[in-house]
Amino acid sequence: MDGNGRWATQRGRPRLFGHRAGAKRVREVVESCPDVGVEYLTIFAFSTENWRRTQTEVAGLMSLFRMYISREARALDEFGARVRFIGDRVKLDAKLVKLMDDLEVLTQENTSVHLTIALNYGGRDEVARATKRLAQDVATGNLKPEDVDEETLPKYLDTCVLPDPDLVIRTSGEARISNFLLWQSAYAEYEFIDTLWPDFTKEEFARLCASYGGRDRRFGGVKT
Ligand code: IPE
Ligand code: MG
Repeated sequence: MDGNGRWATQRGRPRLFGHRAGAKRVREVVESCPDVGVEYLTIFAFSTENWRRTQTEVAGLMSLFRMYISREARALDEFGARVRFIGDRVKLDAKLVKLMDDLEVLTQENTSVHLTIALNYGGRDEVARATKRLAQDVATGNLKPEDVDEETLPKYLDTCVLPDPDLVIRTSGEARISNFLLWQSAYAEYEFIDTLWPDFTKEEFARLCASYGGRDRRFGGVKT
């Protein structure tokens, strides 16, 4: 969800104004998922690198996340979204973590769309945390080193219960991955679009999903 800051700057407003406008776009996109055939949606809300921003912006974002979860919990649940969070919760404040845990529990039986919110998430950080736990299992004898392979490692990732992404959409004209789902996106299709996140609509989402449907995915093989 990139481009909130520039969207606000273009309007002569503080960056947090853009973050608030960005947060308001989420519901429409989530609720359009069943119509466009998306069962799993993952949104990148805050990266492990975003702590480098000013204290004002970081504090504003954290308070926005708390407000967003408190305000949207009911609508998300009524819509039938099953919400999960990925990322390292250790650095997040206890009040926010409680809201995240409660929303996961509240929505755990829901099935209309699986919404994953990446919060204090970084692909490298995730792989490092996974490797640490994997190493602990080896040290305690629960896992044999010779059993570590491409199937084993992802079981330790935050995304262990989620399928790999088919399509990754990056808004705001930047053509980089910025540490998002590094392991999981090995064969993802990418869309880099100029739209700033607060201007992203369900119509554009539908168009990108339809265009994805026309792509020829071979996963390194040859079409037969
Ligand atoms: C939102 O967009 C992403 C978040 C970290 C919340 P940005 O804040 O990165 O917006 P730009 O890139 O400065 O426009
Ligand atoms: Mg940005």
